[in-house]
Amino acid sequence: MDHRRPAGAVVLLSCLGALGLASCSAEADPEPTIPGPDITGPDVSGPESTGPEATDTPGRSSTTLAPHTPSPEPSPTPTRASDPSWDPDSIHVLANRQNRLDPPDYAPEDLVYPEVPQYGPEDAMMLRQEAADSLEELFAAGAEEDMHLGFVSGYRSFDYQVQIYGARHAEVGTEQTDLYMARPGYSEHQTGLAADVISIANQDCMLGECFADTPEGQWVAEYAHEHGFVIRYPDGMEHITGYPYEPWHLRYVGEETAAEVFDQQLTLEEYWEQDPAPEYDEPEPNPEHLSP
Ligand code: DAL
Ligand code: ZN
Repeated sequence: MDHRRPAGAVVLLSCLGALGLASCSAEADPEPTIPGPDITGPDVSGPESTGPEATDTPGRSSTTLAPHTPSPEPSPTPTRASDPSWDPDSIHVLANRQNRLDPPDYAPEDLVYPEVPQYGPEDAMMLRQEAADSLEELFAAGAEEDMHLGFVSGYRSFDYQVQIYGARHAEVGTEQTDLYMARPGYSEHQTGLAADVISIANQDCMLGECFADTPEGQWVAEYAHEHGFVIRYPDGMEHITGYPYEPWHLRYVGEETAAEVFDQQLTLEEYWEQDPAPEYDEPEPNPEHLSP
C-alpha cells in the first residue's frame, strides 16, 4: 500500500469537510483552444524537409538536378479527439497543480442541478449544463444495471474552496491539506465539470478508495467514459496528476475524449501531452486564500 496515502477515514474527513460547507471538486470543443506556454502537441512539421538540398547526393554536384523520385507519403499527423485548453469555459480546460484556472476566481455561467440522487449539501450540487445532462445519463444507465449511484459534490466556487481549504489548513497544515484538496483556483470542481459519486449502499466508502471495490465503483470505472467522464485521478498516477487514487472523482471531457483516454488508460496530462503536475510552484498557499 502506498504509504503516502492516508486511510479512507482521512479522505472522508477532508472531503466531508468540503461537503459540510458547500463541495470536495461538446464533444468537439466549440471554443478555439488557447495553447499554454508549455503545450507540446504533436509534431506537425511532417517528414523531413525535402527542400532542394535534400536532393543532393554524395558525389553529385550540388547544381545537378536529381532525378525526380517520388517522396514517401507523409505519415498522418497523430490526432486526438481534443487538445487541452486554458479557457475555463472549455470542457477541455486543464486544471492541476501546474495549471491554475484563469481567472482564479472563475465561475461558470451555465450551472444547473442535475436530477440525480443527491447526498451532498445543496450549494455543492450543481454542474455545468452539459456535464449535468451527462451525469443524468450516466446514472440512468447505471440504474438499468441495478447500480445505485449518489452524487455528493459538484461545482465548488473559489470562495467555497477558500473556506474548506482554509479550515483544513488551520487544522493540519499545508502538506496534509494539499494531499487531497486543491488550493483555491486549482480545483477541477471550480470548473463545474467534476462530480464526486458514491455507492448508496456503501456509504462507508464515500470518498474513499474502497469505492473502487463497490459494484457502483466498478461499473463507473468501466462505463463512465461512454457518457463523457474519466476517472481523473487513477491509481498510482500521483506523480503525474498530483493526487492519490480518487475512484469517485469523475471529470467531464466529452464522449470522444473520454473514450480515447479510457482506451489508452491515460491521465489527462498524458493524453494532452502536458507536463506532470505533482507539485505547486509555491510551497505555501497564498495566505489571502486561507480564510473568507
Ligand atoms: N480532491 C480534488 C483533487 C479537489 O480538491 O479538487
Ligand atoms: Zn472530487
